[in-house]
Amino acid sequence: MRTTVGIIGAGPAGLLLARLLHNAGIDSVVLESRDRDYVEQRQRAGILEQGTADVLRAAGAGERMEREGLRHDGIELRFAKKRHRVDFPALTGGRSVTVYAQTEVCKDLIALQLKEGGPLLFEAEALAVEGAEGEAGDGPRVRFRHGGVEDVLECEYVVGCDGFWGVARQAIPEEVTRVFERTYPFGWLGVLADVPPSHDELVYARHDRGFALLSMRSPAVSRLYLQVPEGTDAGEWSDDEIWDELERRFETGDEWTLERGPITQKSVTPMRSYVHEPMRHGRLFLAGDAAHIVPPTGAKGLNLAVGDVVTFARALTYEKETGSAELLDAYSATCLRRVWQAERFSYDMTTLLHRAPDATPFEDRMQLARLERIASSRAAETDLAEGYTGFPFG
Ligand code: APR
Ligand code: PHB
Repeated sequence: MRTTVGIIGAGPAGLLLARLLHNAGIDSVVLESRDRDYVEQRQRAGILEQGTADVLRAAGAGERMEREGLRHDGIELRFAKKRHRVDFPALTGGRSVTVYAQTEVCKDLIALQLKEGGPLLFEAEALAVEGAEGEAGDGPRVRFRHGGVEDVLECEYVVGCDGFWGVARQAIPEEVTRVFERTYPFGWLGVLADVPPSHDELVYARHDRGFALLSMRSPAVSRLYLQVPEGTDAGEWSDDEIWDELERRFETGDEWTLERGPITQKSVTPMRSYVHEPMRHGRLFLAGDAAHIVPPTGAKGLNLAVGDVVTFARALTYEKETGSAELLDAYSATCLRRVWQAERFSYDMTTLLHRAPDATPFEDRMQLARLERIASSRAAETDLAEGYTGFPFG
Protein backbone atom coordinates (compact mmCIF):
# COMPACT_ATOMS: atom_id res chain seq x y z
CA MET A 1 0.00 0.00 0.00
CA ARG A 2 1.22 3.52 -0.77
CA THR A 3 -0.09 6.93 0.30
CA THR A 4 1.12 10.50 0.82
CA VAL A 5 0.36 10.58 4.57
CA GLY A 6 0.18 7.47 6.75
CA ILE A 7 -1.92 8.29 9.84
CA ILE A 8 -1.65 6.00 12.87
CA GLY A 9 -4.71 6.25 15.12
CA ALA A 10 -8.39 7.10 14.56
CA GLY A 11 -9.00 9.25 17.62
CA PRO A 12 -9.88 12.92 17.21
CA ALA A 13 -6.37 13.78 15.95
CA GLY A 14 -6.10 11.11 13.27
CA LEU A 15 -9.67 11.43 12.06
CA LEU A 16 -9.61 15.21 11.82
CA LEU A 17 -6.22 15.14 10.08
CA ALA A 18 -7.57 12.72 7.45
CA ARG A 19 -10.51 15.09 6.89
CA LEU A 20 -8.32 18.19 6.58
CA LEU A 21 -5.95 16.45 4.12
CA HIS A 22 -8.91 15.15 2.09
CA ASN A 23 -10.27 18.70 1.81
CA ALA A 24 -6.80 19.83 0.65
CA GLY A 25 -6.70 17.10 -2.01
CA ILE A 26 -3.94 15.17 -0.21
CA ASP A 27 -4.41 11.39 0.10
CA SER A 28 -3.93 9.53 3.37
CA VAL A 29 -4.57 6.14 4.97
CA VAL A 30 -5.71 5.80 8.60
CA LEU A 31 -4.66 2.72 10.59
CA GLU A 32 -6.64 2.12 13.80
CA SER A 33 -5.86 -0.84 16.07
CA ARG A 34 -9.29 -1.07 17.72
CA ASP A 35 -12.70 -1.64 16.17
CA ARG A 36 -15.16 1.10 15.24
CA ASP A 37 -17.42 0.53 18.26
CA TYR A 38 -14.51 0.97 20.68
CA VAL A 39 -13.47 4.27 19.10
CA GLU A 40 -17.04 5.61 18.99
CA GLN A 41 -17.96 4.57 22.56
CA ARG A 42 -14.80 5.48 24.50
CA GLN A 43 -15.88 8.20 26.96
CA ARG A 44 -13.25 10.93 27.19
CA ALA A 45 -13.40 14.65 26.48
CA GLY A 46 -16.49 16.82 26.24
CA ILE A 47 -15.52 20.46 25.64
CA LEU A 48 -14.70 22.03 22.26
CA GLU A 49 -12.90 25.37 22.30
CA GLN A 50 -14.15 28.10 19.99
CA GLY A 51 -11.27 27.37 17.57
CA THR A 52 -12.01 23.65 17.50
CA ALA A 53 -15.69 24.20 16.74
CA ASP A 54 -14.71 26.65 13.98
CA VAL A 55 -12.29 24.09 12.43
CA LEU A 56 -14.92 21.33 12.45
CA ARG A 57 -17.45 23.64 10.80
CA ALA A 58 -14.94 24.78 8.15
CA ALA A 59 -13.95 21.15 7.47
CA GLY A 60 -17.60 20.23 6.77
CA ALA A 61 -17.78 18.11 9.93
CA GLY A 62 -19.79 20.43 12.14
CA GLU A 63 -23.39 19.91 11.03
CA ARG A 64 -24.54 17.62 13.92
CA MET A 65 -22.38 19.58 16.39
CA GLU A 66 -24.32 22.71 15.36
CA ARG A 67 -27.63 20.89 15.99
CA GLU A 68 -26.80 18.93 19.11
CA GLY A 69 -23.82 20.70 20.68
CA LEU A 70 -24.53 23.01 23.63
CA ARG A 71 -22.95 26.48 23.46
CA HIS A 72 -21.71 27.51 26.92
CA ASP A 73 -20.80 31.11 27.73
CA GLY A 74 -19.27 30.38 31.13
CA ILE A 75 -18.42 28.04 33.96
CA GLU A 76 -19.04 28.23 37.72
CA LEU A 77 -16.23 28.04 40.24
CA ARG A 78 -17.46 26.80 43.63
CA PHE A 79 -15.37 27.09 46.81
CA ALA A 80 -15.98 27.67 50.53
CA LYS A 81 -19.74 27.38 49.73
CA LYS A 82 -19.40 30.37 47.36
CA ARG A 83 -20.37 30.38 43.68
CA HIS A 84 -18.57 32.50 41.11
CA ARG A 85 -19.49 32.53 37.42
CA VAL A 86 -16.79 33.23 34.83
CA ASP A 87 -18.35 35.00 31.83
CA PHE A 88 -16.35 33.93 28.74
CA PRO A 89 -17.66 36.33 26.03
CA ALA A 90 -17.38 39.35 28.33
CA LEU A 91 -13.74 38.50 29.16
CA THR A 92 -12.51 37.21 25.78
CA GLY A 93 -14.19 39.45 23.22
CA GLY A 94 -17.01 37.01 22.49
CA ARG A 95 -15.48 33.52 22.70
CA SER A 96 -17.46 30.60 24.13
CA VAL A 97 -17.10 26.81 24.24
CA THR A 98 -19.29 23.99 22.91
CA VAL A 99 -20.26 20.96 24.97
CA TYR A 100 -20.08 18.10 22.43
CA ALA A 101 -18.37 14.84 23.38
CA GLN A 102 -15.31 13.55 21.54
CA THR A 103 -17.30 10.33 20.97
CA GLU A 104 -19.68 12.38 18.81
CA VAL A 105 -16.81 14.20 17.06
CA CYS A 106 -15.29 10.81 16.21
CA LYS A 107 -18.64 9.41 14.98
CA ASP A 108 -19.11 12.42 12.69
CA LEU A 109 -15.56 12.20 11.30
CA ILE A 110 -15.68 8.42 10.83
CA ALA A 111 -18.96 8.70 8.89
CA LEU A 112 -17.42 11.36 6.61
CA GLN A 113 -14.20 9.40 6.12
CA LEU A 114 -16.06 6.20 5.20
CA LYS A 115 -18.38 8.13 2.89
CA GLU A 116 -15.89 10.23 0.96
CA GLY A 117 -12.40 9.97 2.46
CA GLY A 118 -9.45 7.67 1.95
CA PRO A 119 -8.98 4.20 3.51
CA LEU A 120 -9.77 3.97 7.25
CA LEU A 121 -8.71 0.52 8.43
CA PHE A 122 -10.07 -0.63 11.80
CA GLU A 123 -8.38 -3.47 13.72
CA ALA A 124 -5.20 -2.56 11.86
CA GLU A 125 -2.42 -2.34 14.45
CA ALA A 126 0.72 -0.40 13.54
CA LEU A 127 3.71 -2.45 14.68
CA ALA A 128 6.50 0.00 13.90
CA VAL A 129 7.43 3.12 11.94
CA GLU A 130 10.61 2.60 9.89
CA GLY A 131 12.77 4.88 7.73
CA ALA A 132 11.55 8.15 9.22
CA GLU A 133 14.91 9.77 8.46
CA GLY A 134 14.65 8.67 4.82
CA GLU A 135 14.80 11.19 2.00
CA ALA A 136 11.93 11.83 -0.42
CA GLY A 137 11.43 8.79 -2.65
CA ASP A 138 12.68 6.63 0.18
CA GLY A 139 10.03 7.75 2.60
CA PRO A 140 8.96 6.22 5.89
CA ARG A 141 6.86 3.11 6.08
CA VAL A 142 4.49 1.68 8.64
CA ARG A 143 4.55 -2.03 9.32
CA PHE A 144 1.10 -3.08 10.46
CA ARG A 145 -1.07 -6.15 11.06
CA HIS A 146 -4.59 -6.28 9.64
CA GLY A 147 -6.83 -9.34 9.49
CA GLY A 148 -4.02 -11.44 10.91
CA VAL A 149 -1.74 -10.53 7.99
CA GLU A 150 1.37 -8.30 8.25
CA ASP A 151 1.59 -5.56 5.64
CA VAL A 152 3.56 -2.38 4.93
CA LEU A 153 2.21 1.10 4.21
CA GLU A 154 4.72 3.15 2.16
CA CYS A 155 4.34 6.89 2.81
CA GLU A 156 5.80 10.29 2.07
CA TYR A 157 5.02 11.30 5.65
CA VAL A 158 3.79 9.48 8.75
CA VAL A 159 1.77 11.27 11.46
CA GLY A 160 1.57 9.45 14.78
CA CYS A 161 -1.91 10.18 16.15
CA ASP A 162 -1.78 6.98 18.19
CA GLY A 163 -2.16 8.43 21.67
CA PHE A 164 0.02 8.06 24.74
CA TRP A 165 0.43 4.28 24.40
CA GLY A 166 1.07 4.25 20.66
CA VAL A 167 4.17 3.16 18.69
CA ALA A 168 5.04 6.24 16.63
CA ARG A 169 6.92 8.04 19.41
CA GLN A 170 9.22 5.01 19.80
CA ALA A 171 10.60 5.67 16.29
CA ILE A 172 12.20 8.92 17.47
CA PRO A 173 15.75 8.20 18.74
CA GLU A 174 16.27 8.78 22.46
CA GLU A 175 19.39 10.85 21.79
CA VAL A 176 17.28 13.60 20.14
CA THR A 177 14.39 13.34 22.63
CA ARG A 178 13.54 15.34 25.75
CA VAL A 179 10.59 14.30 27.92
CA PHE A 180 8.96 16.54 30.53
CA GLU A 181 6.59 14.80 32.91
CA ARG A 182 4.68 15.16 36.15
CA THR A 183 2.24 12.68 37.68
CA TYR A 184 -0.33 13.72 40.30
CA PRO A 185 -1.17 11.84 43.52
CA PHE A 186 -4.83 11.64 42.52
CA GLY A 187 -7.12 10.77 39.61
CA TRP A 188 -10.72 11.30 38.53
CA LEU A 189 -13.57 8.88 39.09
CA GLY A 190 -15.88 9.75 36.17
CA VAL A 191 -19.54 8.72 35.88
CA LEU A 192 -22.26 9.02 33.27
CA ALA A 193 -25.76 9.34 34.79
CA ASP A 194 -29.20 9.37 33.20
CA VAL A 195 -30.31 12.52 34.99
CA PRO A 196 -30.59 16.12 33.73
CA PRO A 197 -27.56 18.19 34.82
CA SER A 198 -28.25 20.10 38.05
CA HIS A 199 -26.79 23.27 36.58
CA ASP A 200 -26.97 24.72 33.07
CA GLU A 201 -23.18 25.25 32.89
CA LEU A 202 -20.16 23.29 34.17
CA VAL A 203 -19.40 23.55 37.90
CA TYR A 204 -15.79 23.18 39.09
CA ALA A 205 -15.75 22.70 42.89
CA ARG A 206 -12.75 23.06 45.21
CA HIS A 207 -13.54 21.40 48.57
CA ASP A 208 -11.47 20.31 51.59
CA ARG A 209 -12.61 16.74 50.77
CA GLY A 210 -11.36 17.09 47.18
CA PHE A 211 -12.30 18.29 43.71
CA ALA A 212 -15.62 17.63 41.94
CA LEU A 213 -16.84 18.57 38.45
CA LEU A 214 -20.38 18.70 37.12
CA SER A 215 -20.44 18.41 33.34
CA MET A 216 -22.95 17.03 30.84
CA ARG A 217 -23.44 15.17 27.56
CA SER A 218 -26.96 16.43 26.77
CA PRO A 219 -29.93 18.07 28.59
CA ALA A 220 -30.78 14.54 29.81
CA VAL A 221 -27.35 13.06 30.60
CA SER A 222 -24.95 14.25 33.30
CA ARG A 223 -21.18 13.67 33.30
CA LEU A 224 -19.65 14.02 36.78
CA TYR A 225 -16.16 13.59 38.21
CA LEU A 226 -14.74 13.11 41.71
CA GLN A 227 -11.11 13.47 42.71
CA VAL A 228 -9.97 10.10 44.09
CA PRO A 229 -6.56 8.84 45.34
CA GLU A 230 -4.26 7.55 42.58
CA GLY A 231 -4.75 3.84 41.97
CA THR A 232 -8.44 3.90 42.96
CA ASP A 233 -10.55 1.16 41.33
CA ALA A 234 -13.97 2.40 40.12
CA GLY A 235 -15.54 -0.74 41.61
CA GLU A 236 -14.61 0.48 45.10
CA TRP A 237 -17.39 3.08 44.93
CA SER A 238 -21.11 2.29 45.08
CA ASP A 239 -23.52 4.60 43.24
CA ASP A 240 -24.88 5.96 46.54
CA GLU A 241 -21.37 6.63 47.85
CA ILE A 242 -20.59 8.57 44.65
CA TRP A 243 -23.73 10.70 44.89
CA ASP A 244 -23.20 11.30 48.64
CA GLU A 245 -19.61 12.47 48.05
CA LEU A 246 -20.55 14.66 45.10
CA GLU A 247 -23.26 16.27 47.23
CA ARG A 248 -20.75 17.07 49.99
CA ARG A 249 -18.23 18.63 47.60
CA PHE A 250 -20.80 20.72 45.69
CA GLU A 251 -22.24 22.19 48.91
CA THR A 252 -23.31 25.84 48.66
CA GLY A 253 -24.72 28.46 50.98
CA ASP A 254 -28.03 28.54 49.05
CA GLU A 255 -30.84 26.13 48.11
CA TRP A 256 -29.00 24.54 45.15
CA THR A 257 -29.45 20.74 45.12
CA LEU A 258 -27.79 17.91 43.16
CA GLU A 259 -30.31 15.71 41.32
CA ARG A 260 -29.49 11.99 41.39
CA GLY A 261 -30.15 9.30 38.78
CA PRO A 262 -28.98 5.89 37.53
CA ILE A 263 -25.24 5.73 36.89
CA THR A 264 -24.62 4.01 33.54
CA GLN A 265 -20.79 4.21 33.30
CA LYS A 266 -17.99 4.42 35.86
CA SER A 267 -14.23 4.73 35.21
CA VAL A 268 -11.06 6.16 36.76
CA THR A 269 -8.66 8.42 34.82
CA PRO A 270 -5.10 8.93 36.12
CA MET A 271 -3.63 12.44 36.09
CA ARG A 272 -0.45 13.27 34.19
CA SER A 273 1.32 16.19 32.51
CA TYR A 274 3.64 15.04 29.72
CA VAL A 275 5.42 16.63 26.78
CA HIS A 276 7.68 14.86 24.25
CA GLU A 277 10.07 17.14 22.38
CA PRO A 278 10.55 17.28 19.46
CA MET A 279 7.20 16.51 17.81
CA ARG A 280 8.90 15.70 14.52
CA HIS A 281 11.78 13.49 13.38
CA GLY A 282 12.52 13.47 9.65
CA ARG A 283 9.30 12.50 7.91
CA LEU A 284 7.59 11.34 11.12
CA PHE A 285 5.35 13.84 12.92
CA LEU A 286 3.55 13.41 16.26
CA ALA A 287 0.13 14.93 17.01
CA GLY A 288 -2.24 14.87 19.98
CA ASP A 289 -1.76 12.54 22.94
CA ALA A 290 1.10 10.81 21.09
CA ALA A 291 3.16 13.94 21.88
CA HIS A 292 1.58 15.44 25.00
CA ILE A 293 -0.82 14.75 27.85
CA VAL A 294 -2.58 17.27 30.07
CA PRO A 295 -4.59 16.66 33.25
CA PRO A 296 -8.26 16.84 32.12
CA THR A 297 -9.09 19.76 34.45
CA GLY A 298 -8.70 22.36 31.72
CA ALA A 299 -10.41 20.29 29.00
CA LYS A 300 -7.41 20.86 26.70
CA GLY A 301 -6.56 17.35 25.43
CA LEU A 302 -8.78 17.15 22.38
CA ASN A 303 -8.33 20.84 21.59
CA LEU A 304 -4.52 20.54 21.60
CA ALA A 305 -4.79 17.58 19.21
CA VAL A 306 -6.86 19.78 16.89
CA GLY A 307 -4.23 22.50 16.95
CA ASP A 308 -1.48 20.02 16.05
CA VAL A 309 -3.27 18.53 13.04
CA VAL A 310 -4.42 21.94 11.76
CA THR A 311 -0.76 23.01 11.92
CA PHE A 312 0.44 19.89 10.06
CA ALA A 313 -2.27 20.06 7.36
CA ARG A 314 -1.52 23.76 6.80
CA ALA A 315 2.23 23.07 6.58
CA LEU A 316 1.90 20.14 4.14
CA THR A 317 -0.57 22.05 1.96
CA TYR A 318 1.93 24.94 1.85
CA GLU A 319 4.71 22.54 0.82
CA LYS A 320 2.56 20.98 -1.92
CA GLU A 321 1.60 24.45 -3.24
CA THR A 322 4.97 26.21 -2.99
CA GLY A 323 7.59 23.49 -2.72
CA SER A 324 8.77 25.13 0.48
CA ALA A 325 9.19 22.92 3.58
CA GLU A 326 9.40 26.04 5.77
CA LEU A 327 6.18 25.40 7.71
CA LEU A 328 6.88 21.66 8.01
CA ASP A 329 10.30 22.49 9.45
CA ALA A 330 8.61 24.83 11.95
CA TYR A 331 5.91 22.27 12.91
CA SER A 332 7.36 21.16 16.23
CA ALA A 333 8.20 24.66 17.48
CA THR A 334 4.82 26.01 16.32
CA CYS A 335 2.85 23.27 18.11
CA LEU A 336 4.97 23.34 21.26
CA ARG A 337 4.35 27.06 21.87
CA ARG A 338 0.61 26.28 22.19
CA VAL A 339 1.20 22.94 23.95
CA TRP A 340 3.22 24.56 26.73
CA GLN A 341 0.60 27.26 27.29
CA ALA A 342 -2.06 24.56 27.59
CA GLU A 343 0.21 22.58 29.93
CA ARG A 344 0.62 25.67 32.10
CA PHE A 345 -3.14 26.37 32.10
CA SER A 346 -4.03 22.75 32.89
CA TYR A 347 -1.43 22.58 35.67
CA ASP A 348 -2.72 25.86 37.15
CA MET A 349 -6.37 24.72 37.12
CA THR A 350 -5.42 21.32 38.55
CA THR A 351 -3.36 22.73 41.44
CA LEU A 352 -6.00 25.42 42.02
CA LEU A 353 -8.89 23.00 42.51
CA HIS A 354 -7.52 19.64 43.72
CA ARG A 355 -6.47 18.96 47.31
CA ALA A 356 -3.30 16.85 47.39
CA PRO A 357 -3.32 14.11 50.07
CA ASP A 358 -0.38 15.83 51.82
CA ALA A 359 -1.78 19.37 51.47
CA THR A 360 -0.75 21.65 54.35
CA PRO A 361 -3.03 24.29 55.94
CA PHE A 362 -0.88 26.92 54.22
CA GLU A 363 -1.51 25.31 50.80
CA ASP A 364 -5.24 25.16 51.54
CA ARG A 365 -5.21 28.88 52.21
CA MET A 366 -3.18 29.53 49.05
CA GLN A 367 -5.84 27.77 46.96
CA LEU A 368 -8.62 29.81 48.56
CA ALA A 369 -6.63 33.03 48.08
CA ARG A 370 -6.09 32.18 44.37
CA LEU A 371 -9.83 31.52 43.97
CA GLU A 372 -10.74 34.74 45.79
CA ARG A 373 -8.36 36.59 43.45
CA ILE A 374 -10.08 35.15 40.35
CA ALA A 375 -13.50 36.01 41.81
CA SER A 376 -12.47 39.61 42.50
CA SER A 377 -10.00 40.53 39.75
CA ARG A 378 -10.96 40.94 36.11
CA ALA A 379 -7.30 40.43 35.15
CA ALA A 380 -7.07 37.07 36.98
CA GLU A 381 -10.49 36.01 35.67
CA THR A 382 -9.51 36.94 32.10
CA ASP A 383 -6.43 34.70 32.23
CA LEU A 384 -8.67 31.75 33.15
CA ALA A 385 -11.30 32.62 30.53
CA GLU A 386 -8.66 32.99 27.77
CA GLY A 387 -7.07 29.66 28.68
CA TYR A 388 -10.37 27.82 28.91
CA THR A 389 -11.81 29.10 25.60
CA GLY A 390 -8.52 28.32 23.86
CA PHE A 391 -5.15 29.64 22.74
CA PRO A 392 -4.79 30.65 19.07
CA PHE A 393 -3.54 27.98 16.64
CA GLY A 394 0.09 28.42 15.51
N1 APR B 1 -1.86 1.19 15.78
C1 APR B 1 -3.03 1.75 15.38
N2 APR B 1 -3.78 2.53 16.20
C2 APR B 1 -3.32 2.74 17.46
C3 APR B 1 -2.11 2.19 17.93
C4 APR B 1 -1.36 1.38 17.01
N3 APR B 1 -0.21 0.81 17.37
N4 APR B 1 -1.92 2.60 19.23
C5 APR B 1 -2.99 3.37 19.55
N5 APR B 1 -3.83 3.46 18.50
C6 APR B 1 -5.11 4.20 18.44
C7 APR B 1 -5.98 4.07 19.69
O1 APR B 1 -6.77 2.89 19.63
C8 APR B 1 -6.81 5.33 19.60
O2 APR B 1 -8.01 5.12 18.89
O3 APR B 1 -4.80 5.57 18.35
C9 APR B 1 -5.93 6.32 18.82
C10 APR B 1 -5.43 7.47 19.69
O4 APR B 1 -6.56 8.27 20.02
P1 APR B 1 -6.58 9.16 21.36
O5 APR B 1 -5.95 8.41 22.48
O6 APR B 1 -7.98 9.69 21.53
O7 APR B 1 -5.58 10.37 21.03
P2 APR B 1 -5.82 11.69 20.16
O8 APR B 1 -6.51 11.40 18.87
O9 APR B 1 -4.53 12.37 20.17
O10 APR B 1 -6.91 12.51 21.02
C11 APR B 1 -6.47 13.36 22.00
O11 APR B 1 -8.86 13.48 22.49
O12 APR B 1 -9.87 11.53 23.21
C12 APR B 1 -9.64 12.86 23.52
O13 APR B 1 -9.21 14.08 25.50
C13 APR B 1 -8.83 12.93 24.77
O14 APR B 1 -6.60 13.90 25.11
C14 APR B 1 -7.40 13.05 24.27
C15 APR B 1 -7.57 13.75 22.95
C1 PHB C 1 -16.25 16.34 30.28
O1 PHB C 1 -17.42 16.73 30.08
O2 PHB C 1 -15.90 15.15 30.09
C2 PHB C 1 -15.23 17.32 30.82
C3 PHB C 1 -15.56 18.66 30.91
C4 PHB C 1 -14.64 19.57 31.41
C5 PHB C 1 -13.40 19.12 31.81
C6 PHB C 1 -13.06 17.76 31.72
C7 PHB C 1 -13.99 16.85 31.22
O3 PHB C 1 -12.51 20.01 32.33
